[in-house]
Amino acid sequence: MLRVAVCVSGGGTNLQAIIDGVKQGTIANVEIVRVISNNRNAYALKRAAQAGIDAVCVSPRDYENRELFNEAFLGAVDEAAPDLIVLAGFLVVIPSALIAKYENRIINIHPSLIPSFCGTGYYGLKVHEAALRRGVKVTGATVHFVDEGTDTGPIIMQKSVAVRQDDTPEVLQRRVMEEAEWIILPKSIALIADGKVSVEDGHVMIAE
Ligand code: GRF
Repeated sequence: MLRVAVCVSGGGTNLQAIIDGVKQGTIANVEIVRVISNNRNAYALKRAAQAGIDAVCVSPRDYENRELFNEAFLGAVDEAAPDLIVLAGFLVVIPSALIAKYENRIINIHPSLIPSFCGTGYYGLKVHEAALRRGVKVTGATVHFVDEGTDTGPIIMQKSVAVRQDDTPEVLQRRVMEEAEWIILPKSIALIADGKVSVEDGHVMIAE
């Protein structure tokens, strides 16, 4: 059974897709052991509670400095003893100590086809605003392992989504969530739980 901790900051629709996948059996051999949010008002915490999943809030506001927050955050993760950490709309910089301790065991969902529209400053609606400003005809989402950089780790899965001429950032964000994020994040977790994902020379290999 793969023990999964999910880190969230907002609405939690990606968390919900994982919860539903586990419940429906499309994600086998996975137990969501803890949901951690930096935002006490995150609706994702309510989703976790509704699903009977242990949910904790570790907010930077409650700590004198970033170092003390990082320590508390790492503690909240370690306490759950996860095999895999999933960043599902988590807007906090991951402490390097966590990345070192959980090398290739932290994954993130980003709402674009990396390497487009990613890196520092590209999160939430800003990603879709940039895609519309550039006039791309296709965008999508990416699941990748987390390394020391921002959105730079080995790519696990991507799914493309058409951009329509009358799209607003909000409409495009919703389509990317529905047609890409909520599909490839659960799928990636299921593949990892099945032991089918490995990283060789910085590239992800998925066993057939
Ligand atoms: C999603 O668009 C995700 O790609 C990005 O943040 C958003 C989180 O949405 N990282 P939700 O909290 O999962 O609804």
